[in-house]
Amino acid sequence: MTPPNDPLDLLVEAAWTARDAAICTYSGFAVGAALRDAKGKTWTGANVENASYTLGLCAERVAIFHALTHGGRDFTHVVVATDTPTPTSPCGACRQILWEFARNATVVMVARGGVTATITVAELVPLAFDAGALDAARTAVRNDPDA
Ligand code: THU
Repeated sequence: MTPPNDPLDLLVEAAWTARDAAICTYSGFAVGAALRDAKGKTWTGANVENASYTLGLCAERVAIFHALTHGGRDFTHVVVATDTPTPTSPCGACRQILWEFARNATVVMVARGGVTATITVAELVPLAFDAGALDAARTAVRNDPDA
């Protein structure tokens, strides 16, 4: 059994608190996210929706963009909290951002129903696209005398 003050429990609690700030006017689906960085600092976010639906942002990206622009780096854990019976995993767009900025993190998905699931970012993003592909293309062009 997990002790009450287990550090990950605190991160889970932070994700639930973040979820309370969700602005999910249109979907009614509130999400809280909490990241831990290598220094042990916690960064949180919640999803934000607006009338022009597609402009809204998921909790994970709100949290990570806030962290990145305030000095957070080298994330070790990402907690995603939802009011669902079973865990909710990050959407495709968030997976891409997690891959690029939180590649070594473990994702912990907690559901109001009490079920928790854990997976690594690397497992969530097989065959990821990233700057490596851009670099490889540039190198290929440089090495091709006809290009
Ligand atoms: N959402 C998140 O914030 N994170 C996820 O992992 C899945 C989806 C948000 C986006 C939108 O505001 C609402 O949930 C419904 O899709």
